[in-house]
Amino acid sequence: DMEQSLRPELLSQYIGQEKTKQNLSIFIEAAKMREEPLDHTLLYGPPGLGKTTLASIIANEMGVQFRTTSGPAIERAGDLAAILSSLEAGDVLFIDEIHRLPRSVEEVLYPAMEDFCLDIVVGTGPSARSVRLELPPFTLVGATTRAGLLSAPLRDRFGVHGRLEFYSTEALSDIIRRTAEIFEVFIEKDASDEVASRSRGTPRIANRLLKRVRDIAQVKGEREITLTTAREALGMLQVDEDGLDHIDHKLLLALIDSFRGGPVGVDTMAATIGEESQTIEDVYEPFLLQKGYIQRTPRGRVATPKTYSHFDREVPGA
Ligand code: ADE
Repeated sequence: DMEQSLRPELLSQYIGQEKTKQNLSIFIEAAKMREEPLDHTLLYGPPGLGKTTLASIIANEMGVQFRTTSGPAIERAGDLAAILSSLEAGDVLFIDEIHRLPRSVEEVLYPAMEDFCLDIVVGTGPSARSVRLELPPFTLVGATTRAGLLSAPLRDRFGVHGRLEFYSTEALSDIIRRTAEIFEVFIEKDASDEVASRSRGTPRIANRLLKRVRDIAQVKGEREITLTTAREALGMLQVDEDGLDHIDHKLLLALIDSFRGGPVGVDTMAATIGEESQTIEDVYEPFLLQKGYIQRTPRGRVATPKTYSHFDREVPGA
């Protein structure tokens, strides 16, 4: 489908994340020279930055099958055993949200990662015994929003760690132009720069905004997406000049108005605005922290002078 064909298939087509890309290209080349699977790889960073895309590129570059699942989808040890025993030599197994694997499943994963084998218990009671099954060598690619969410023993079993960072406006603008080409629409450079600068450093958001901007241009009967149309669309979508959306605004205004700028705990803030704490921590906070709209202190989150000036408010006590 279209969503799938948007994804680059090779490292050379993947825009941004230069450090991770450079490292991966060397490790992939070396593994191919030795005719071995790539070491198990952990990709971490905020949602929408391309962890799944990179994992599928690894499989492509290695010339092997790409199999995907997720932490919450694997409920029992037997679920994982079924997946592992269906792998072929060299396959990439991608586990998204790997921090959500149940502990009992994690224990099955350790010997699979280390020795490519599966210890399963056959029978029950006094006649129960453990049988060791050999697995084909494979590469586990795990994805998580924060490496710190993984248990230390699991984290330590990944030989390659790749941290994904928010994209620059320039990289996002290139991604938008690449996507526009796939959509067969024209977008002016200043329009793609505008959408890029309001995409929170995140390709998933950039491509979503591009789709909505394209809709507006289409309805207006425009052959080319202009800066004016891009701005109009972004305004309609309630995305402000810095890319902050309706929920960012709720969060920051609650911090300013209900908690006098903090400090306040995430759980309290989450309850106030009616969002999940985990969503705030994984989806909203990383960008707000990086942009300096929120600071983390031992006693909770606090607003910054930038937060006040963004909403044309006086900093209290200033
Ligand atoms: N589409 C989404 N993310 C991309 C990236 N990093 N490079 C190229 N195209 C993309």
